[in-house]
Amino acid sequence: MDEHDMLLSPAGVDALRTALTDAGYTANGIASRLGAAATSGVARNDFRAALRATEDRDPLGTLIRVFICEQTEPEAAVAAALAPLSLDEALAGGLVERHGDGLRMGLDLEPYADDWWVLADVPASARPGRPLHAEHVLGIGGATQTLIGATVRQPVETALDLGTGSGVQALHLGTHARRVTATDLSERALRFAATTAALNGQDWELLRGDLVAPVAGRRFDLVVSNPPFVVGPGTTTHVYRDSGRVGDAIGAELAAAAPGLLTEGGTMQYLANWVHVTGEDWGERVAGWFAGTGLDAWVIQREVADPMAYVNLWLTDVGHTADPHRAAAWLDWFDAHKVEAIGFGIVSLRRAGHADPVVRVEDLRQRVEVPLGDRVAGWFDRQDWLRVRDTEGLLAARYRAADGLQLRQEATMGDEGWAVDRQVLAMPRGLRWTEEIDPLVLALVGGADGRLSLRDQLALLAVAHDVPAEELAEAAGPIVAHLVERGFIEPVAD
Ligand SMILES: C[S@@+](CC[C@H](N)C(=O)[O-])C[C@H]1O[C@@H](n2cnc3c(N)ncnc32)[C@H](O)[C@@H]1O
Repeated sequence: MDEHDMLLSPAGVDALRTALTDAGYTANGIASRLGAAATSGVARNDFRAALRATEDRDPLGTLIRVFICEQTEPEAAVAAALAPLSLDEALAGGLVERHGDGLRMGLDLEPYADDWWVLADVPASARPGRPLHAEHVLGIGGATQTLIGATVRQPVETALDLGTGSGVQALHLGTHARRVTATDLSERALRFAATTAALNGQDWELLRGDLVAPVAGRRFDLVVSNPPFVVGPGTTTHVYRDSGRVGDAIGAELAAAAPGLLTEGGTMQYLANWVHVTGEDWGERVAGWFAGTGLDAWVIQREVADPMAYVNLWLTDVGHTADPHRAAAWLDWFDAHKVEAIGFGIVSLRRAGHADPVVRVEDLRQRVEVPLGDRVAGWFDRQDWLRVRDTEGLLAARYRAADGLQLRQEATMGDEGWAVDRQVLAMPRGLRWTEEIDPLVLALVGGADGRLSLRDQLALLAVAHDVPAEELAEAAGPIVAHLVERGFIEPVAD
């Protein structure tokens, strides 16, 4: 493994794995034990049906009661469920803790994916009134899953997880990277990550330090990071969310570090928050992070929050709901810096080694089909295709409309029947882009069946609409490039 301590001894980790495996404490094992109704109840924090289904307190039932339903259970039942891990070691490692006359979970032991377990701290919501540890180790929440889903899962030699926490991103990297390196500023987090790795039979290089410092001078094929991206005055109370950097500087810092971290063709993906400043274009602000990096960059803004909602969200996350002074100081900072909103999104970068990198920053707030990883890979592939084609190249190619593409129309009934006001192309799957288009572009997309070159298609359209073919060809270039970029039409291979 490596020099980092774990929460349990190596033998203790083996014993815990045996206990969990023998009991069937896996995501699938729990789902089949509880049944559909209790499982969906658990997902909504309604444990009633799950508690009824586990009343006999066999090992699986007890593990579910303790680690899923957050119950305090009799010591003998917990000891039997964790055996062969000794209760002494489970208590010393913090896995369970004494509460009243029984035992309850001391750590979050999350069954995850098919047969993984992830160790993290118990969330603030499960311990009302108890302050979170300053080095609280985050469990698998929405942001974590967003990055997991967005990561390009292609086989690579080397992968890096910056700010690994529980180690969940590294666990996924271990499925498609030959060597995984994971870093964290927090020694405590690294103990969790080391334990998660060992529990799941994976082997990572674990390094402690600030952002990219522990891997200075090294390059990776894939870098992922769910960093402490929360935006504010730069004060740090909880290392899992506060970077100590002022405003949204951590997003810019990661962008600046990316060229030095990536191998040729390498990809880096991270989550970020950015401020929307009054009088400033947020997209230009974020695009500015990548100026001079030489990297292709695709940034998608998935959510936007107003400062009040944002501050409330992050105070609740650490259990500081009843602290009006913190909220006021944070909001004052936003006011002083003219921050009117905060965006959240995914940054995907690729070192393609071109002189003319593409930087695209866009709002993508519609509900999308997850996972996004293949979509991200496809976006970069399409940029490669577009980059080597000028207008002539675009005209020479043949295209096919994306599978299942829809046309939506809005029309108004008039004296002469329906008059179409608006026509919108819609992708029913994937990124679910919609695009308002005019009748000529509609005809072009409608005729994209992969047989005619774009030039020949335009020649036919020119005749039908009585417009000069060359004029049409010139106007079509950027429109077709945009439709290809978003995947409305796909080039057909020769
Ligand atoms: C939001 S958590 C992400 C944890 C995990 N990777 C995930 O996706 O759930 C951020 C992690 O970054 C670590 N961290 C905070 N500041 C850091 C820094 N300056 N350098 C490296 N890691 C840092 C925290 O300790 C924490 O584990």
